[in-house]
Amino acid sequence: MALLEVKNLNSGYGDVQVLRDVSMEINEGEIVALLGSNGAGKTTLFRTIIGLNRVWSGKIIFDGIDITNAPSEFIVKKGISIVPEGRRLFAGMTVTENLTMGAYVNRKNIEIKIQKIFDLFPRLFERRNHLAGDLSGGEQQMLAIGRALMNEPKLLLIDEFSLGLAPAVVESLIKIISDINREGVSILIVEQDVQMILEITHRAYVIEVGSITINGKSSELMHDSRIKEAYLGI
Ligand SMILES: Nc1ncnc2c1ncn2[C@@H]1O[C@H](COP(=O)(O)OP(=O)(O)OP(=O)(O)O)[C@@H](O)[C@H]1O
Ligand SMILES: [Mg+2]
Repeated sequence: MALLEVKNLNSGYGDVQVLRDVSMEINEGEIVALLGSNGAGKTTLFRTIIGLNRVWSGKIIFDGIDITNAPSEFIVKKGISIVPEGRRLFAGMTVTENLTMGAYVNRKNIEIKIQKIFDLFPRLFERRNHLAGDLSGGEQQMLAIGRALMNEPKLLLIDEFSLGLAPAVVESLIKIISDINREGVSILIVEQDVQMILEITHRAYVIEVGSITINGKSSELMHDSRIKEAYLGI
């Protein structure tokens, strides 16, 4: 049984449909890419999985439990965390306070969990008393990832991973993402650098105008002519 099963999902805003019959699976231990151009519905899919958007029809099953239209707090508690598009940190709070906020549904062992995040990102420890709004882009993304990990998720959703970050920062952060996955956290990641993300993921889905049009092993999709033309500029 897959860790996350999305079955024939339809959703949107008001009466405008965005997601059309979307089905996908994430298995335990997998890191999976979600590719697609601007406005394709990637963020909408994430928001729907985590309970911020209503499911019109279809089902979302996580870890054997039907979470379709469950309250977002329940879904987070079950073990899904999100690193949202734009990071959405609490700019006027310190690094440590932002991390504490990440544990809002599970406040046990907060000190130990914060220490783990500082071990993963020593730079955040150095900046622990600084306001999130004063951090560099790379530090902000570390903090957004750290805040999501404070929930000790089984599944991590990462939206627009490298947006606005310098190449060297992206390179070091992507290694940490791979490490987090190897330690057992399943990951679904949206990233515009298709070449890079296909190199580090097991599988990928392509979403176009709200529908999944292509899916397969990342190692095979790298050589797929449709992917080459549309996303690799080859
Ligand atoms: N809050 C909203 N209200 C109404 N329509 C919205 C809202 N958010 C997004 N949309 C529309 O839903 C569609 C999908 O948007 P979404 O943000 O999910 O795409 P995306 O794949 O994440 O794009 P991007 O690569 O630009 O982040 C777009 O047509 C968008 O205009
Ligand atoms: Mg988006």
